[in-house]
Amino acid sequence: MNLPDTGRATDDLLAEIARLRAHDLPVRGGQVTAYVYDTGRAEVHEAAAHAYFEMLEVNTLDPTAFPSVVEMERQVVGAVADLLGGGHGIFTNGGTESIMLAVKAARDGSRVAGRPNMVVPVTAHPAFHKAAHYLGVEVRAVPVDLVTYRVEPEAVEAAIDGDTVLVVVSAPSYPQGVVDPVEKVAALARDRGVACHVDACVGGWLLPWLREAGADVPAFDLSVPGVTSISCDLHKFGYAPKGASVVLFADPATRRRAYFASGAWPGYTVINATVQSSKSAGPLAGAWATLQALGRDGYLELGRATLRAATRLREGVAAIPGLRVLGGQESSLVAFAGDDVDVFVLSDEARRRGWFIQPQLSYAGIPANLHVTVTGVTLRGVEAMLEVIAESAAAARSRGPAVLPDGLVELIAGLDLDALDDATFAELAASVGIDLTSRDQPEMAVVNAVLDALPARVREAILVRFLSVIYSGT
Ligand SMILES: Cc1ncc(COP(=O)(O)O)c(C=O)c1O
Repeated sequence: MNLPDTGRATDDLLAEIARLRAHDLPVRGGQVTAYVYDTGRAEVHEAAAHAYFEMLEVNTLDPTAFPSVVEMERQVVGAVADLLGGGHGIFTNGGTESIMLAVKAARDGSRVAGRPNMVVPVTAHPAFHKAAHYLGVEVRAVPVDLVTYRVEPEAVEAAIDGDTVLVVVSAPSYPQGVVDPVEKVAALARDRGVACHVDACVGGWLLPWLREAGADVPAFDLSVPGVTSISCDLHKFGYAPKGASVVLFADPATRRRAYFASGAWPGYTVINATVQSSKSAGPLAGAWATLQALGRDGYLELGRATLRAATRLREGVAAIPGLRVLGGQESSLVAFAGDDVDVFVLSDEARRRGWFIQPQLSYAGIPANLHVTVTGVTLRGVEAMLEVIAESAAAARSRGPAVLPDGLVELIAGLDLDALDDATFAELAASVGIDLTSRDQPEMAVVNAVLDALPARVREAILVRFLSVIYSGT
């Protein structure tokens, strides 16, 4: 039984949290190049934490009970709208929720006769597949150009039919950090009466500052004719604590279609702007405080540092033998592939040296590669990062590619996963040297190489099983 018989003191609890976090990657310092966004300014994160704590127990469920929520949300959404071409917004708990609402609004606003579908580049975030799955919309995946990694407008055009309710573009797409041709795609969607969502979860609060700092950033926001909604995560380049994103709609009628109300029960009236119903106002307050603590100057300064760091990183990586930068330069997401270097081994080598560099599997003709999200704090450590990448690349070259046990991929691809319980699955993984229960920083090259060799559907089934195993503690 995990519940103690008697209550425990706060110090004791905090000590336990510290112990639990001993295996976590650090959230500050810039050595983790994905998942976390560090300004390098402790006082900003402290302001956010205090504000978050202050509003922690306020429930956003009923705006009439807690009008502070409405005022704060209007300010936060207003700041995002000011930066991204206007619109009418909702504060959500993350990119996925923003995307879910955009897809719902598009579906509910259309009058298609058949099963609704949406046209989505292969580089778009899986949140669109998730939204489609939850909302009964079909995904029409379209390829990207294999040199620029941007979606081709002609491919989007060819995929649209009478049941298309939404076309998606990314600004930028996460894998290679490139901005899709928003103007062209939005125009052709508009011509066909189809909604167009710009996924600017990463770029919404990044690209405008990079542009102001001198980067060549194409138009991508609600000011582009034909764009009907846009998502912008404040818990990414807004540097707010997690649980903070905004989705903007070009008109209030579309925003209303994202809402949900129910009078069909005998309890309190339910009117939700988001997927979640009861939720803490902490993330909203954290986002509000981060915006206020940094201000325009703060974000512009971070944008300048980010642009310099991204430029230096691209140059530095391109000069390392065997490595090749993928994609353009319009954002601060940097991806690189290896020619005679196994990037999965490189990632393990970097991790051994204290740096997390995120592996990305090959897909739709795009090779396996590594991803660095360059943030405000990266600049001060960019030379150290480049040294680690160079050393790790050399080590990976001399180690050679991850070696998969003979027949392993075929064995996994042929498994009847439904017939295996979690314990048997964990044993099977252990028998080929993959310990799913260890909390130590694992060697991931073999795991990544196996996943890389499998088709997407099998990857997904294996990943679901992995999650089930780690949560059942088998
Ligand atoms: C381009 C893009 N869109 C959407 C998302 C989903 O965001 P979240 O993890 O906040 O749900 C991400 C996350 O990395 C992303 O990179």
